[in-house]
Amino acid sequence: ESGNKTKTKRVLLLKPRGFCAGVVRAIDIVQIALETFGAPIYVRKEIVHNSYVVTDLAKKGAIFVNELDEVPEGARVIYSAHGVSPAVRDRAKERGLKVVDATCPLVTKVHVEAIKFAKQGYSLVLIGHRDHDEIEGTQGEAPDVTQVVSTVQEVADLVVPDPNRVAYLTQTTLSLDEARDMIQALKNKYPNIVGPHSQDICYATENRQVAVKNVAHGADLVLVVGSTNSSNSNRLVEVSKNLDTNSYLIDTADAIRPEWLDGVDTVAVTAGASAPEVLVKDVVEYLQTMGYGSVDEVEVMPENVRFGLPPEIVQAIASAP
Ligand code: F3S
Repeated sequence: ESGNKTKTKRVLLLKPRGFCAGVVRAIDIVQIALETFGAPIYVRKEIVHNSYVVTDLAKKGAIFVNELDEVPEGARVIYSAHGVSPAVRDRAKERGLKVVDATCPLVTKVHVEAIKFAKQGYSLVLIGHRDHDEIEGTQGEAPDVTQVVSTVQEVADLVVPDPNRVAYLTQTTLSLDEARDMIQALKNKYPNIVGPHSQDICYATENRQVAVKNVAHGADLVLVVGSTNSSNSNRLVEVSKNLDTNSYLIDTADAIRPEWLDGVDTVAVTAGASAPEVLVKDVVEYLQTMGYGSVDEVEVMPENVRFGLPPEIVQAIASAP
């Protein structure tokens, strides 16, 4: 189209995006469990926070339940990637359930820290979202000494028995910027506060946010593929909006409203840690039909983390016929 002065409409496909190592592992666990043990396999809560993934596994025979009481005695149940509290583990024992644990190792890391701090007599401040499955699990490690905060105001309102004996931990999927503000507020309020050895926000959450930060200024719109209950996906929308680039969270390409694209030349596309690549592909294809002819992948940093499978699954594979 020589002579046409309109700017090229283009798509910037961010990398890293989509599945993290914890999600790959959790989905593999359900699939291998279905193949080696056979259906039905129960899964407590959504294995990962993505509707497409959950629907797909349900079709293959996984039965998703909210609580263990819905699982028949003696049946096999998988814990989701977000982890569970000791109360849930106890309940599984009482009901004689066979457990397969798909908790992400990076969530387990936070649980271990919570147990350690509680044993050492600290009051625990857990930075995160109260209604999230992960926070429910982590808080459950030391419920009597743990308080959850999700805003700087809630830090200001905190009351603890001994201000010199406070520790903090965070959810793995927070906004890095908001977490930093809250940690700073905690340090100002409790100068002797202690924290985790390395940040609890996981590598996948961080990398996806850094990638958005890198391109948001050069894009007119950032589309984030992910489900509404996915914490890390919602944070990607916020990161973009904080940089004054409009952004929407979409479960699938169908959710894109044509008017969002009015006057938009460059669309950056990314995906939360639980969103499958096939859905990203659909979004890019839809944008191409809308005239966004050039698609460039922008790799902001390499990412190649893998986690091993839990022993109960390794064992099952080994003894499969
Ligand atoms: Fe684990 Fe982070 Fe993914 S905590 S499940 S690697 S988003």
